[in-house]
Amino acid sequence: KKKVIVDVDTGIDDALSILYLLKQDVELLGITAVFGNVSAERAAANTLKILELAGAPKDIPVFQGAEQPLFRPWQGPAVRFHGENGLGNVELPESSRSVQPGHAADFIVQKAEEYPEELTLLFLGPLTNLALALAKDPRLPEKVKEVVIMGGAIRVPGNATPVSEANIAGDPEAAHMVFSAGFPLTMVGLDVTMKAIFTERHLKLLEEKYRKDAGGQKIARVAKELLEFRFGAYAGYWEKRGCPLHDPSAVAVALDPSLAEKVPMQVQIETKGTLSLGATVADLRIGRGAEPNVLVCVKADYERFFNRFIDALAK
Ligand code: BDR
Ligand code: CA
Repeated sequence: KKKVIVDVDTGIDDALSILYLLKQDVELLGITAVFGNVSAERAAANTLKILELAGAPKDIPVFQGAEQPLFRPWQGPAVRFHGENGLGNVELPESSRSVQPGHAADFIVQKAEEYPEELTLLFLGPLTNLALALAKDPRLPEKVKEVVIMGGAIRVPGNATPVSEANIAGDPEAAHMVFSAGFPLTMVGLDVTMKAIFTERHLKLLEEKYRKDAGGQKIARVAKELLEFRFGAYAGYWEKRGCPLHDPSAVAVALDPSLAEKVPMQVQIETKGTLSLGATVADLRIGRGAEPNVLVCVKADYERFFNRFIDALAK
């Protein structure tokens, strides 16, 4: 079984990712929270609520991490795409669980030490906690098995700025540290996630499939409300009502690499630009491309992914 730590800024698609991940055959060692869609504190609190909703094992620890980017102030919550509370204004009961004492970065360092070359680090928010872990243990890149991130945009427009994606733009310096550290890194960026459009047809499938007992209904009903909020936020973008599933796409690729086609590339993060701050700059020059540092997902089998996602949430 894969040993996974997932870092989140929960966030609707982070919440859906957690629900999805809990239904997979992996060993979820813990969840770390970061600022991003919401504050780090709220990201942790939302995560606890989602674990409670899912009836997840009580021993999955949740750690809070960075509250701010390394060198800049946090830009504030992404209310339009995630609602006032980060969960599309869906009110979930308070969780009986609590956040663990200690910092997310220390937890990551400790687990990498405990399970050398076994850890899958899945990053679904700004990369600050990973950059901090790296600062604490510069040998971290050799110690983990893989790092899969949702972030970046190579050949497509950005979503935070015209050319940068929100998780990278959320902390460009942290992303720069991570991208230049030599991690076995896979990037699931907007190039694929903006094509992973979950539509009303998929939502219907979810409704048809979910277990009709109380537990099953509860999870699927909340998932449906979260997705409906997202459909609203993206209204008018596509012919059919729908929304991209950014973070769950990265989870899917981490669990089954065969879902995506990947190309090794040299990708650097813009940390100085006035128009391009946080851009993921890939060297695609013919015959001149520099040494690759990232496997970039360029294409994925979206329907196969959606079927798995729906089946997992309906289970
Ligand atoms: C990413 O930014 C956040 O809004 C989402 O949760 C996702 O991780 C998409 O750019
Ligand atoms: Ca996220």
